[in-house]
Amino acid sequence: MKRLIATLFIMTIGTNFAQEQAQDTVLQNEQKMQWFKDAKLGIFIHWGLYSVNGIDESWSFYNGYISHENYLKQTKGFTAKKYDPQAWADLIKRSGAKYSVITAKHHEGFALWDTKFGDFNAVKGSAAKKDVLTPFVSELRKNNLKVGIYYSLPDWSYQDYTHFTRDSVRYKISEEPKRWNKFLNYYQGQLKELSDNYDPDLYWFDGDWEHNSEEWEVPKVRQMLFDKNPNTILNSRLREQGDYATPEQGMPITRPKNKFWELCLTMNDSWGFQKNDHNYKTTDQIIGIFADVIGNGGNMLLDIGPKGDGSIPEEQVAILEGLGRWTNKHKEAIYGTRSGIPKEHFYGPTTLSKDGNILYLFVKGNSNGEVVIRGLKNRINRIYVVGEGTKLSHQVIGKVYWSHYPGINYIKLPEHVLDENMTVLAVMLDGKVDLYREDGAVIESN
Ligand code: GLC
Repeated sequence: MKRLIATLFIMTIGTNFAQEQAQDTVLQNEQKMQWFKDAKLGIFIHWGLYSVNGIDESWSFYNGYISHENYLKQTKGFTAKKYDPQAWADLIKRSGAKYSVITAKHHEGFALWDTKFGDFNAVKGSAAKKDVLTPFVSELRKNNLKVGIYYSLPDWSYQDYTHFTRDSVRYKISEEPKRWNKFLNYYQGQLKELSDNYDPDLYWFDGDWEHNSEEWEVPKVRQMLFDKNPNTILNSRLREQGDYATPEQGMPITRPKNKFWELCLTMNDSWGFQKNDHNYKTTDQIIGIFADVIGNGGNMLLDIGPKGDGSIPEEQVAILEGLGRWTNKHKEAIYGTRSGIPKEHFYGPTTLSKDGNILYLFVKGNSNGEVVIRGLKNRINRIYVVGEGTKLSHQVIGKVYWSHYPGINYIKLPEHVLDENMTVLAVMLDGKVDLYREDGAVIESN
């Protein structure tokens, strides 16, 4: 009996300990993810050989639209002649982004830094003859921007990698395990270099679908990166063993379940520079998507594709500048905020201040001069136009005095305060946001 009690006691302590440990891990993770959660906007950069001819990044030879041989000829055009890392970082900063993720190596295998693993890189294997990654990382740091490194797990040009093109696989791991090991050493060696050289705040992996976690040796790779920096963040494309989800192109229609997520989005229809692709989203549309993203608690990673000479296409510069004007004016409604209230209460994106006391409404167009919030239990202390300061009046209608149904708030929105892209209103509440979530039946039954 005594033994049983002792065992039970130890078990309870053990469980408590395990629970506490789990809580600690959650807390540590929250702390580690804090900057990411607050950042809201990042700029993705796809720059590689494909930027020279303006063709699909890596996929163009993989899918057979161009031969591998001709694809490689682009090394001659990768001059980086007009490359100005200081101007890049400055533009990114002005856009309102807090971090940037650059393709250190895409599936094609061409590395932007001076890797000791092979010659297929900007220094030894291109007209640029220089490391183009290091100066950019330093400029990001100088500007207080977080550094994200995109790294493709597959390397389709590497002789000892399994996959080459859609219709030709070099070998199967089960048949040539030694050859696969050679690749593992190569890719993990490159990753170690990246971690030693740049100590990135974030790794953006891609292409994990070609092998399983065991084949990539994901746990070992994670350990290596965390040994160097336990606070580094990994995206989820590491066989789901990362920190946040990466929906691609499509703005999620319902709120993603993952606590941390980032929508990666092209400005036109291509990741890299493509001369022929003029299908740019308007600044208005991009701001609209961005508002949806932050309203649902995510980040937006907006992509640019510099040319082979390192210049950024003017359409892309214009979008970033337009975005910058808007994010700068509305910063209090963007950075450090949390996802907003359910759409039934306001037909548009919303965010909340961290303490939940200010509700931000993102208003498209002029809303016919009237903005409506339904079922808000709080008293409103003040409403003002973000970035303008103008105070707005409101009226509560339909409040039922004998029930806790709070009625509907009508806010008058005059034409002269409208923003050219999207107007944002700050609604200061008398406390933490409190919503009426019932169906109204209480009123009838009373
Ligand atoms: C896809 C594509 C890749 C692109 C990436 C960006 O995974 O394979 O070309 O870089 O999306 O999210």
